Amino acid sequence: MEDPNDIVAEGVYIVSMLRKLNGMVVAITGASAGIGLEVARQLSQEGARLSLGARRKGRLDDANRELGGSHLAIEVDVAEPEACRGFIEQTARDMGRIDTLICNAGYGIYKRVDETDAAEVRRMMDVDVIGTTECIRHAVPHLLKNEIVAGWRGQIMIVSSAAARRGTPFIGVYSGAKAAQMAIAEALRVELRDARIAVTSVHPTPTKTEFRDVAERLGKYKLPPSSNFIKTQSAEEVAAAMVRAIVNPRPEVWPWRLAGWGLSGGTLVPRLMDRLMYKYFDGVMRHNGLR
Ligand SMILES: NC(=O)c1ccc[n+]([C@@H]2O[C@H](COP(=O)([O-])OP(=O)(O)OC[C@H]3O[C@@H](n4cnc5c(N)ncnc54)[C@H](OP(=O)(O)O)[C@@H]3O)[C@@H](O)[C@H]2O)c1
Repeated sequence: MEDPNDIVAEGVYIVSMLRKLNGMVVAITGASAGIGLEVARQLSQEGARLSLGARRKGRLDDANRELGGSHLAIEVDVAEPEACRGFIEQTARDMGRIDTLICNAGYGIYKRVDETDAAEVRRMMDVDVIGTTECIRHAVPHLLKNEIVAGWRGQIMIVSSAAARRGTPFIGVYSGAKAAQMAIAEALRVELRDARIAVTSVHPTPTKTEFRDVAERLGKYKLPPSSNFIKTQSAEEVAAAMVRAIVNPRPEVWPWRLAGWGLSGGTLVPRLMDRLMYKYFDGVMRHNGLR
């Protein structure tokens, strides 16, 4: 089997190498709201069979009804390793297979690092990081059973963040959790290459979802609704970029490409990035009446 990456590198566009969404079984954590719900909508429209996971079962049932009622809705708190196992096993049993796992469930807290206590750090790591690795750990044996189609046996997509590339004030611990997800994706992508399981990390900039409400409720600060140097996106835009990368898997998805280039380049000039971030920090302090 020819490696589709090599074919793409040669600049040849081969339609048969695109994965088909119609009939694809996709398990999505965090499907009750925001990006997860929107990606479910877009995938369902293309005929994918979905397993929708989150804690708010009522919301999942509503989503399933909205999408025609043929999907699975499974209550899962990804902070509980046993619940991750249950989510994956029930999906494989009831759907017969898993083709794509989207580890999307996650949250942040708007607090400074020095104000975030151990329980808050632990919970964020449990949900954002261990919730990801546990779903992956249980899903890989199922993905390995699949035949290779369009170059791939299956795909694991991890919804990280643009903040994974650069620790960001007021979401420092969350940035750390998202950086962990990015590093995990990078290693896993190489580990699963021979098995033909694609691994894709997703790096949205601020996106209009319930994320901000949760982060403000659990945190101490309000962030300004917009910023001069970072674009706010819609969940639809982010989901559309994710769907494109499910059809045609790639290592990373930066729904706003400029952020990917800017933040990656910024790693070479940490002093300059610190200065830019300090401007942002100062703006948020003023916004909160603290300066
Ligand atoms: N919005 C942004 O600005 C932004 C930017 C970059 C990256 N992201 C990432 O995008 C992903 C989706 O966030 P969103 O923006 O769509 O936020 P959202 O609207 O708040 O949705 C978060 C989803 O995660 C689920 N979730 C949270 N904790 C969970 C848990 N313990 N177990 C299972 N599900 C859980 C929520 O469902 P329940 O509450 O029903 O459990 C909900 O479905 C997150 O990983 C986030 O870090 C968001």
